[in-house]
Amino acid sequence: MAKKNSIDYVCQSCGSVYPKWQGKCDACGEWNTIVEEKKPSVEFSNISAKKQGNQIDFVSLDGESQTYKRFVTNLSEINRVSGGGLVPGSVVLVGGDPGIGKSTLLLQVCAGMANKLKDNSCFYISGEEAIDQVRIRAKRLGLADSPVRLASTTSVKDIITTLEKENPSLVIIDSIQTMYLDEVESTPGSVAQVRAAAYELIKIAKRKGFTLFLVGHVTKQGAIAGPRVLEHMVDTVLYFEGDRGHHFRILRAVKNRYGATDEIGVFEMQDTGLVEVENPSALFLAERQGCVSGSCVFAGIEGSRPVLVEIQALVGNSGYNGAKRAIVGWDSGRLAMILAVLEARCGMNFSNHDVYLNIAGGLKISEPAADLAVAMAVISSLTNKPLPSDMVVFGEIGLSGEIRAVSQPNLRLKEAQKLGFTNAIIPHSFSDKKQKIITNMSYHEIGNVQRLISRFN
Ligand code: TYD
Ligand code: MG
Repeated sequence: MAKKNSIDYVCQSCGSVYPKWQGKCDACGEWNTIVEEKKPSVEFSNISAKKQGNQIDFVSLDGESQTYKRFVTNLSEINRVSGGGLVPGSVVLVGGDPGIGKSTLLLQVCAGMANKLKDNSCFYISGEEAIDQVRIRAKRLGLADSPVRLASTTSVKDIITTLEKENPSLVIIDSIQTMYLDEVESTPGSVAQVRAAAYELIKIAKRKGFTLFLVGHVTKQGAIAGPRVLEHMVDTVLYFEGDRGHHFRILRAVKNRYGATDEIGVFEMQDTGLVEVENPSALFLAERQGCVSGSCVFAGIEGSRPVLVEIQALVGNSGYNGAKRAIVGWDSGRLAMILAVLEARCGMNFSNHDVYLNIAGGLKISEPAADLAVAMAVISSLTNKPLPSDMVVFGEIGLSGEIRAVSQPNLRLKEAQKLGFTNAIIPHSFSDKKQKIITNMSYHEIGNVQRLISRFN
């Protein structure tokens, strides 16, 4: 039996360590996630045995900064999300639900790079699928003749020994939860294994200067499974999102040491793999029916790119079980706030109404700039008065009912105009002239929600 003090109790959700077992993790609040794990006999191999450290040289903040050399891939959406291309020596964690298309995307990235570089330096290591399965996928994607070096293994030690003798430019590990190190005694997928395996792989990527992609599974709550620490260890975290019922997928940067976050890349899953979508607004609006009550087009910004989406609301009388609220693609707290503002400032009443809100197409919106569009969709459904089909809306709603200015109004309006919209409703505060509106579209500035109601009378 292992000695008592050689055991840690580790939360499999957030990685917190406890001296003894408990039912609930104090750090992340999850139940039944704490399991017994043997401490690694050597904490992350080869820690320096020297007693004293070396002297550090301090420098000033001002100085020549290095511009990163980047591999520009053949997928422009990947280049956009990574901040202009893949940085050699950087580590990218790609998270997403099972079956969303992570393996497909990374095989396409790997094959694209291999075709470009033609020096046998692109490696795809699968711990989840057998060689045959990956080959079948490659054939389906039309990538079977790309010079990708494929292997199926789960041993980190074997991977490191092999890569040591090669000169890789790109290595894909699919997935980090399947990898294991002999020195760590817990099962693959446990916090200790995932952390130790990632640490060793990141170390060799930095030393040899290749780009490393780690695929990570996502828990039901939407975080990358296993330790949160994984997100701190890597340079870039990308989430691959989408709805299984829809064809398009969104790659979102949530952390990027080499570029902007909140950038999105949009793909469509087709029979022949993931195809880049150059004009996401046209895709999101493709199935829109003109002149239906409860529908409002929001001119949003995702990262640096304007995206137009349709917000749909359905307000109906509630039954005997109380008023229901169901929301897809937006924050439920934010909807509750908007309904409360409409009740308090405009005398509307939603207590006897069910409210359903849907961002058409399955996109998730986090911008408060969508408040005004949500409010208009809700009022339009409640009053059964359709909004003009050539109108876009944006603006944030404050608790006192004021409509606040949002960033980049001109970029939003330009995109709307490009897609044939001729009319816009925007916040009044732009007339403070802090941001000058330049557009050929006709637009109306609204200062508060009371003014909004008068548009429906
Ligand atoms: P996959 O890349 O295996 O997902 P993950 O690695 O995230 O688990 O994607 C699997 C799904 O994608 C599967 O349901 C089939 C679908 N798919 C297509 O629709 N077209 C394709 O060309 C490929 C390869 C997969
Ligand atoms: Mg996969």
